[in-house]
Amino acid sequence: MPKITAQGKTFECDRGANLRQALLANGIDLYSPRAHYINCMGIGTCGTCAIAIEESVEGAISATNWKDRARRSLPPHDPQKNLRLACQTQVFGDIRVTKFEGFWGHEDKIAWQAEK
Ligand code: FES
Repeated sequence: MPKITAQGKTFECDRGANLRQALLANGIDLYSPRAHYINCMGIGTCGTCAIAIEESVEGAISATNWKDRARRSLPPHDPQKNLRLACQTQVFGDIRVTKFEGFWGHEDKIAWQAEK
């Protein structure tokens, strides 16, 4: 089973699991404090579940889909940044996750990394 390391925790998920659901189920602060209460619940429209993903091997996560690309093409996101929407990402192998500051997780300052 794939392993996810985020915010100082490492846990397993089913192959093909939705990353947003896996992070929330394991108590990870996927959202910024305000976005925790105001988000699209995983339909790919708000952009607040943005995170950076380090893959252990190529193919450890699904390819970006059109919702992910479309939302991250709009401000305050920058499509040149190497972010993904957790709600639009499936996990197939071991990954490490980083979250950035800002309501949308779009700023340059790191909120938390794989290890705390
Ligand atoms: S939860 Fe809104 S885009 Fe992912």
